[in-house]
Amino acid sequence: METILTGIRVNGELTLGNLLGALLPMARLSEQYKATHQINVFVPDLHTIIADVDGNLADNTMKSLRYYAAAGLDLGHENIRIYRQSYVSAHSELCWILDCIATMGEMGRMTQFKEKSEGRDSANVGIFNYPVLMAADILLYSAKYVPVGEDQFQHLELTRNLGERFNNKYGEVFRLPATTAEQAAFMKGLAAEGGKADGIRIRDLLNPEKKMSKSSPAENSKIMMSDSPEAAAKKIMSAATDSVGKVQFDMFNQPGISNLLQILALTTGDTLESVVARYSGETNYGDFKRKVAEAVELFMTDFQAREAEVSDADILAAFLRGEKYANQVANAKLLEAQKAIGLR
Ligand code: TYM
Repeated sequence: METILTGIRVNGELTLGNLLGALLPMARLSEQYKATHQINVFVPDLHTIIADVDGNLADNTMKSLRYYAAAGLDLGHENIRIYRQSYVSAHSELCWILDCIATMGEMGRMTQFKEKSEGRDSANVGIFNYPVLMAADILLYSAKYVPVGEDQFQHLELTRNLGERFNNKYGEVFRLPATTAEQAAFMKGLAAEGGKADGIRIRDLLNPEKKMSKSSPAENSKIMMSDSPEAAAKKIMSAATDSVGKVQFDMFNQPGISNLLQILALTTGDTLESVVARYSGETNYGDFKRKVAEAVELFMTDFQAREAEVSDADILAAFLRGEKYANQVANAKLLEAQKAIGLR
């Protein structure tokens, strides 16, 4: 069975961007593939600590699993494995091994590192090393498909490069994940445009050139999944648009309106094409926004009701089962790598 693998950090709160760009597609995908694929969904708690944490990591982990379950992930299915990264020590060990073949140059070119460190000397080394740990997360399980948002595609390329470099140097140990173009094609509804893979990226509501991010200080720029449905609707009403004056899907010239079209499609479960066909040419932005606000409000209400029904006991049972499996698979792959290098 092929493995599909993904992770989402647990900073306590999720944005609508995380949900629509990562959790929901993952949940839908897992429904489609759980009968025929191994599906690994893990909590990268070691990645989380690159930022200050408030001592509530374990609680936040439970919270994010509740979000996954509310998004439709079937915690009890035998082919769906849920685990916490810090409970599988092979991730850290392989990370070190890959560190010794990764170069300062390629790591320094990682966009997320550049954005997060802003060239500060005080930036922690974890921020720099983050993509190598991510490569270990993927290579340990020989995962083929790794559904992530567009911002993570560069890290998937790095994963392929490090896996290939290791194999060339020490012998065939790692199975490389699919190319980003193949990943995008696999994630239904995402287009591979002109050879450049393009995943879903929900934009900041006030600065739609940027992605919606939990770290943005402006409250109205992001919808948190814990916002009340009414507050979320208000944020949509105050979203930045443009002076073109006509609804069209054009991420480059009209990122605000295009973002709202994207949000409308994902929250109603319609395809982007049909939403675009329905609203294209509409000239009253206020009316259009009201439609999106209503869809978001309804989506949030349903989602929060489902979330309240998820039980902690079910989550903990899924972790125990998943971590047993993960340690077996990851330790076996780690041993192969250790033997190839001559450590064993
Ligand atoms: P994290 O927590 O930063 O992001 C989790 C997922 O959410 C996606 N995402 C978005 N998608 C659309 N629009 C947005 N505005 C938006 N913001 C975030 C991200 O692309 C991601 O898919 N490095 C990973 C975590 C990770 C991982 C892994 C993933 C660690 N190891 C191994 C897959 C495989 C990350 O960015 O988490």
